[in-house]
This record gives sequence, structure tokens and C-alpha cells, in this order.
Amino acid sequence: MVRFEFAEVAMGIAREAGALLKEYYEHGVAMEYKGDVDLVTAADRASEALIVKRLEAAFPDHGVYGEEGTRDGLDREFRWYVDPLDGTTNFAHGFPAFCVLLGLERRRAGLAPDEDGEMVAAITYDALRDEMFVAERGRGAWLNGHRIHVSKTETLQESLTATGFPSQKRHENPNVHFYQEITLRSHGVRRAGSAGLDLAYVACGRLDGYWEFKLNPWDTSAGYLLVEEAGGTLTHFDGGKFTLDSREVLATNGLIQGEMLHLFADMFAGRNLEPIPTPAEFAARRKAREASK
Ligand code: IPD
Ligand code: CA
Ligand code: CA
Repeated sequence: MVRFEFAEVAMGIAREAGALLKEYYEHGVAMEYKGDVDLVTAADRASEALIVKRLEAAFPDHGVYGEEGTRDGLDREFRWYVDPLDGTTNFAHGFPAFCVLLGLERRRAGLAPDEDGEMVAAITYDALRDEMFVAERGRGAWLNGHRIHVSKTETLQESLTATGFPSQKRHENPNVHFYQEITLRSHGVRRAGSAGLDLAYVACGRLDGYWEFKLNPWDTSAGYLLVEEAGGTLTHFDGGKFTLDSREVLATNGLIQGEMLHLFADMFAGRNLEPIPTPAEFAARRKAREASK
């Protein structure tokens, strides 16, 4: 195992936040609504408060940008993106898939506020499984001390993929069509409810590909570096460069990226789509089958 520059300390912080989340999880938490179905709990806030306190003590000259409202020192060279609890809906329902996400960006002098620096460290910690995913730029991606790599699957047909659905303005989003198309062309599409775990699973080869609309930098920053350091690729749905403020991500093992980009181009153009039967059509067909028996 390599020695990390920032991640050693950050892993300790993520572990501590994960233990705090586990406590809340075991006792149950009340849900509050941030949007349509965008949930938040006392555990999200307590985890962010703990992480911010620890980061500020360990790295007093770094900035912090947290999902639950922290905006400290954003003019500094180093900036931590913090998702104190990724998978809040799962967490609040007692569904065991959530994690803590920490991503460190280095922003060299002279960058415009809307320009990206480079991701230098990433931590994704799944407290229930005690799985610590970590990466530092140039030092590889690791899971519990073992080097990880993306899968070697060469075709979408042989792939296991994942996606998620936005929690705001859901009726405006076409992802259910994408879900259908990719389900029919692969081994399946998982929707486990944690973008952070989805990206970490692409990095370690449990998934071959993952896409999602409308994510934020605290969701993607850690996974971005994990996937790159594990040898994978991230782009927009049209192949454009993925950046921290990208509102869409397609992350794969690299080998199926081209095939998925073709499929996305087809889907956005409405080409070669498989029709989805409406429930009424399905019921009519079933009735006709039963009548003919
Ligand atoms: C959410 C999860 C989910 C994804 C949502 C995210 P949160 O993060 O990552 O998988 O589909 O879009 O907002 O709100 O649980 O931190
Ligand atoms: Ca999140
Ligand atoms: Ca969150």
C-alpha cells in the first residue's frame, strides 16, 4: 500500500463520520423534505458538522464545500467537496446502501471561479460493509488496501450497469427511457440509490458502466478520481469532457464507453428505440391471450 499525502487523514475522518452514521442508522431517523422527494435527516447534518470540524483542524489552510451548506475558504488552493451522507433516501428507509464522500480539488492560482482545478484525493467510505475506497492522483485507486481496476468487459451486452433518477422535477427527466434501452441491451441496470457507491463500483469492476443526470460536485468528485485512477473513463453523454460542475456523467471501464456514447446519441435523437408497452396495452394483450386459451 502506498503512503498517501492527504488521504491518510481523510480516511480517518470518513471512518469517524461513517461510525456516526451507523449509530443513527441503527436507531432510525426522522426524514425531512428539501424538495419534491429530496430528503435530509439529522444524520446528514451531524456528519457534515463532524467532517468539517475535523478537516478544519487537520488542514486549516484548505477550503470546504459541503452539501448541507458549508462554504468555507472557497478562494483557497485546496478545496474539499463533502457529501456527509450519500444515499439519504436509502438511509432513512433502512435500505443498506449509503456512504461518506470526500473529494479534494487543487485549484492553482489564476483559475476563474467556474474553472476546474484537478482532483488530487478521493475517499468513498461504506460504513456498513467497512469498505474504504481511496485514490490519490498518480497513486492509484484502492479498496481496503488492495489496488483496484475497472473491469475488462468489452461489450455492453455483457455488462452490468447502474443509474439513478433525479429527486427534483422528476417528471421532466427522460431517464426511464434510457433505463429501458440499456436494460434490454445489457445484463441489467442497477438503481441502488448512492451515486458515490455506483462510481466506486465502476472503479473496482463490480459495475462496467454508470450514468446519471443532475448530479452535484459533492456526489461525483470522489468517484471521478477513483474511476480515473482505476483506469476508467468519464464523459458527458455526448462524449464531452466531464468537469466537477457537470450535470451529467457517463462513467465506464473505457472499453464500453464508445458503444454507450453511440446509444446515447441514438436515444437523444429518438432512433432505434424499443417501444415500452403501456400498462393498458399490456393488460389488453394479456386479456387477449387468456381469451384465446
Ligand atoms: C443522491 C444519491 C442518489 C442519486 C441522487 C443523489 P444524496 O445523493 O447519490 O443515488 O440518484 O441524484 O442526489 O441526496 O443521497 O446525497
Ligand atoms: Ca449525494
Ligand atoms: Ca448527501
